[in-house]
Amino acid sequence: MFEHLNAQPADPILGLLTACNQDNNPNKVDLGVGVYKDDLGHTPILQCVKTAEIFRTENEMSKVYIGPAGDSGFNTQMTKLIFGEHNIIEQNRSRTISTPGGTGALRVAAEFIKSCKNDARIWVSNPTWANHQSLFSSVGIKVEAYPYYDYENKSLDFDGMMTTLSQVSAGDVVLLHACCHNPSGMDLTQEQWQQVTALAKDKGFTPLIDMAYQGFGQGLEQDAFGPRLMANELPELLLCSSCSKNFGLYRERIGAFTIVAKSSSSADISLSVALSVVRSIYSMPPAHGAALVNIILSSDELKQQWYNELAVMRDRIAHNRHLLVEKLITNGVKQDFSFITRQSGMFSFLGITPEQVVSLTNDYSIYMVDSSRISIAGISHNNIDYLAKSISEVIK
Ligand code: LMR
Repeated sequence: MFEHLNAQPADPILGLLTACNQDNNPNKVDLGVGVYKDDLGHTPILQCVKTAEIFRTENEMSKVYIGPAGDSGFNTQMTKLIFGEHNIIEQNRSRTISTPGGTGALRVAAEFIKSCKNDARIWVSNPTWANHQSLFSSVGIKVEAYPYYDYENKSLDFDGMMTTLSQVSAGDVVLLHACCHNPSGMDLTQEQWQQVTALAKDKGFTPLIDMAYQGFGQGLEQDAFGPRLMANELPELLLCSSCSKNFGLYRERIGAFTIVAKSSSSADISLSVALSVVRSIYSMPPAHGAALVNIILSSDELKQQWYNELAVMRDRIAHNRHLLVEKLITNGVKQDFSFITRQSGMFSFLGITPEQVVSLTNDYSIYMVDSSRISIAGISHNNIDYLAKSISEVIK
């Protein structure tokens, strides 16, 4: 039966990891996958995670099944981290479950949406994370796009976004990035969040917020502005979060899926649907990453250490944005790249042509997504001169 299979191309993002690993050029620069790197190019385990792991090894008593909702302590801590002291918690309107990474949360969300409304459509920003499209279409949800990034002006096409979203009907879902928009780095301002929230209220569509980078943009609280506002103003909301980046727990695969419902009883019913979805796809989530996050967020000392370590990552990325723009200028680049300093989080588009991206990869061993999305965390004091010089040569 396998003879009818067609080989699939490598994933446009993850494939870059393999390509870069196989490249022997000592000057190679990896700006591909969205993974935090320090100035030496390493992705170290956070100190707070190390301490939590020692604690867990010494105190874990059993490896018995944990259940489809995962770790209840983690679920409570994540709800607090995302929503703060929010009235949805007081009103008992939210339910959070642990999931295998942010992608697992999105998959559960997709199946959940399908259970709510078999012909629901999901509207995603143009552009969006490359995996969103296949993730939703693989469960039979029609994916539509709304304008988002203005490639020419390197800014947000907010008017285009609002015009398209004003046609979206009740029962459809609109996917929004909470912060650090992947791939453009262009986020909504607080005022724009207010306008999108008012539109959702008026039209009756349900937001699904993808929050993979809380703390990597402006800060933990600021990055949660949109989700908190929407939870306040709207009857229903779905949110997928990830601990891959902000806790550096990439391979532990830990994230969360949160449902905010109209009432506590509706939240209970919705949770039961999400749990039956989980049972039929992976039965229950991995426990280790959730336990570590719970240990960290339950300890004042470890939480403070995590805040500090997160701030170091955030500040380094922000610094790299300025460094790249400065070095491009010193290398004689006339084109204006200052938009990179006005964007936020792990990614920006360089805005160069696909041929120039190919040339950077083939001739200079500089790896980035075809769209010219670069992972800003991959820039370091060791590679910045080579990087800026190579870009200047390719675009001149
Ligand atoms: C990325 O966009 O590079 C990250 O979210 C990693 C991934 O899984 O694609």
